[in-house]
Formats: sequence, C-alpha cells, structure tokens
Amino acid sequence: NLIMGSAKTIGIIIPNITNPFFATFVRGVEVAAQRGDFIPLVLSGNGNPDLERQYVEQLIQRTVDGLIIASPAVNKDTIDHFLKANGVPYLLIDQNPLDDGDRVSTDDYLGAKLAVEHLIKLGHKRIAMLYCDKPSVNQAQRLQGYKDQLQSAGLELTDDLIVTGPLSKLGGYQASEQVLQTKASAVFAVNDEMAIGLYRGLNERGLEVPADLSIVGYDNIDLSEYVNPPLTTIAQPVFEMGQVAFRTLLQRIEQPDAPAQKIKLPVELVVRESSRKV
Ligand code: RIB
Repeated sequence: NLIMGSAKTIGIIIPNITNPFFATFVRGVEVAAQRGDFIPLVLSGNGNPDLERQYVEQLIQRTVDGLIIASPAVNKDTIDHFLKANGVPYLLIDQNPLDDGDRVSTDDYLGAKLAVEHLIKLGHKRIAMLYCDKPSVNQAQRLQGYKDQLQSAGLELTDDLIVTGPLSKLGGYQASEQVLQTKASAVFAVNDEMAIGLYRGLNERGLEVPADLSIVGYDNIDLSEYVNPPLTTIAQPVFEMGQVAFRTLLQRIEQPDAPAQKIKLPVELVVRESSRKV
C-alpha cells in the first residue's frame, strides 16, 4: 500500500543548486537518507531570504521530520519563529553562520592557511586572493587565513591584492583583468568555481597556468581534476559532510533533548598541476 507508513522526509536548503559543491553535498545526504528510508526534498533559494523563509514554512506545513540548512539566508529569526517554535529538528552547515544547535563544518581558516603556505613554499612572494563580493562567515574565515598566513611569512599584504566578484565561474572570469593587475605570481581563489572562471580569462589573454600564474582553489569539486591543468585545491570532504549531516540530524530526530553536536571534518591540500615554483 503506497499511502501507508510514516512520511520520513527531510528538507535540505542550499544557497545554490548549480554549484557542484552543493550537488555533492546533497548526494551525500541522499545516500545516507536512503539507508534510513528517508526521502530528501532539496530546495535552493539562490540567496533570496524571503523565498527561503517561505520554503522553511512550507516544509514545516508538509511535516518534514527535520531540516538541513546550508543557506546563510535562513537566519536566527526564522529558526526561532518557525523551527524552534514548532519543535522541528534541524542542523546547520557550511554558509549558515549561526552557532545554534547541531552543526557540521570544516576548518575554513586552516584550509586557507594550507593553500597559502603551499604557495609560499613554492617561492611565491606576491600572492593575490580571488574573493567573493558577498562572503558568508566561513568564506570570511578563508580571507582571514590568507591574510594571517601572508603576515606570518612577512609577505606583502595590501588591499589591491584582494580582488572580489560574484561567487561563480562568471565571477572568476570577469575578475581576470583585475587579478592580472595585482602583478601577483600566484592567486588563492575562495572556491574552485571562481578559479575555473579565472582559467578562461587567462586563456583568452594567451596566458598559461601555472607558467604565468599559479592558482590554488578551494572545495575539490569533481571538475577540478578534469580542467587543464588539473587544479591544486583544498579538499573539503563534501560527500562525507552530507552523510554526517544526515546521521547527526537523525540522532536529533530520535533524541530531541540530547546535547548539541558540533562536528568538524578535516580539510586537506590536494596538489595538482596549477601551482608551481617561481
Ligand atoms: O563553492 C561553494 C562554496 O560555498 C564552498 O566553498 C562552500 O564551503 C560554501 O561556503
């Protein structure tokens, strides 16, 4: 009988469904959820807080068993008024800045330091950062890691070394000229998508990675080993983040009063061919 049994549904709210980081994350949740006979409903608000609030409301009306929230637009107000008030279990990850209840995260500050340390060890002295124009808290920690690592190596850190644009391939592509104007020999990009956009901008100008510019990305999305040259990056265990997020949410569903869990998963440097010695 198709309509018997409990719904066993969870909601996942992500900021951007086109970014492979979130696709892999959702896949991790899905695989873990299937094992527990849960169905995930995935919603992407694309940075529109009103839409995301509506999604939260509608998911509650559809009596989901719990929610995984990656989006920064789901704020404290929404959590208090919709989730807590209705006793709906939830878990926060990645871009959501709140330290409220269960959370799965990675060390963004350390990841950025590893990226910049790698470039310093290769002899780079002028290192730019390709950053996003509307940073979430975890992305801001990457900027801080970049700055601190440069400073502790006694390297130059001026505002013009930090180039910003929308967090997308197009954003990276459009920032190409400005990145070149920094006269840096290497650049650390806040995510792989921006790095890949930058590849195209350099390519159109007849420049080569890493001969003209070394690049380190962030995320290790599946595409990063297929671009030319394969991209050096900081790997986040994205698929595992999804699985752990589901399992932690399930524990919350089963034990609503247990203490909050803060789970931090490791990041690591993956050296490929986009970075080389000066
Ligand atoms: O690529 C998307 C980025 O946004 C990732 O780095 C992820 O950590 C999120 O903050």
